[in-house]
Amino acid sequence: MVLEVDVLTLFPAMLEAPLSESIPGRIRERGLADIRIHDLRRWGLGRHRTVDDYTYGGGAGMVLRPDVAAAALADLRRPGSTVILLDPAGTVFRQAIAHDLATRPHLVLLCPRYEGVDERVRSMVDLELSIGDYVLTGGEPAALVVLDAVLRLLPGAIDEASTAEESFAEGLLEYPQYTRPATLPDGASVPAVLVSGHHEQVRRWRLKESLRRTLERRPDLLEDRPATKEEVKVLVELRSEAATEPAAAEPATTASATTEPAAPAAPQTTPTGPREDRPPDA
Ligand code: ADE
Repeated sequence: MVLEVDVLTLFPAMLEAPLSESIPGRIRERGLADIRIHDLRRWGLGRHRTVDDYTYGGGAGMVLRPDVAAAALADLRRPGSTVILLDPAGTVFRQAIAHDLATRPHLVLLCPRYEGVDERVRSMVDLELSIGDYVLTGGEPAALVVLDAVLRLLPGAIDEASTAEESFAEGLLEYPQYTRPATLPDGASVPAVLVSGHHEQVRRWRLKESLRRTLERRPDLLEDRPATKEEVKVLVELRSEAATEPAAAEPATTASATTEPAAPAAPQTTPTGPREDRPPDA
């Protein structure tokens, strides 16, 4: 199934280039997504193709007119469409929403500029999304973030190993990664387990370090997801380690300074090579 996307913006160039480059560009070239970027002025009013106006009651800035938004959506919406307004007051965008949107047949993204939209526009959309608690100059960077996260989840978009690895630790921060050289001039080395060739030990180390990092930096993420039995065990271990070593050390064992593994080559079952989300044919 091809994901169809229509984006409504006053600045098409802000989206064209980023969506034509790198992985999103390749996803489009390969026909996994059909993305059309529309200039909102096409539905603008009068000689100047006006799309926004001053707010009733006074105040600085202009808001997107509801009649313009309605005209654009009337042309683009069809049964099965999901119309999304990018707005700082929206639901905060998360990976679970990206997964959901990646299963939809047609997304319409409405990017307001200036001070946002006439309140009546909200009732014309299916979903309002914010990409975080800060205010951007417009919805375009937010639309790019949402699309980037959704496109890479389309079946066949990126290396299957990357998505498999993600589902292994879905909702956790990523474990630390290393590449060559195994040792830096200051002696900083790669944890020994990663060059050991023991796939199961590498897997367990990664899970533990993912959990350690999540516990330290984003404990809120752990509350949002059910932990597996193994994770519960590791979390107990980490908590008791933290209780006995208040200065919570990073993993102590490192590869010997004299050992340079041939390459950070990927064993078949547990990818350990430098990770870059690439389409398989990139
Ligand atoms: N428009 C302005 N700020 C925004 C944000 N944080 N998320 C989505 N759209 C926005």
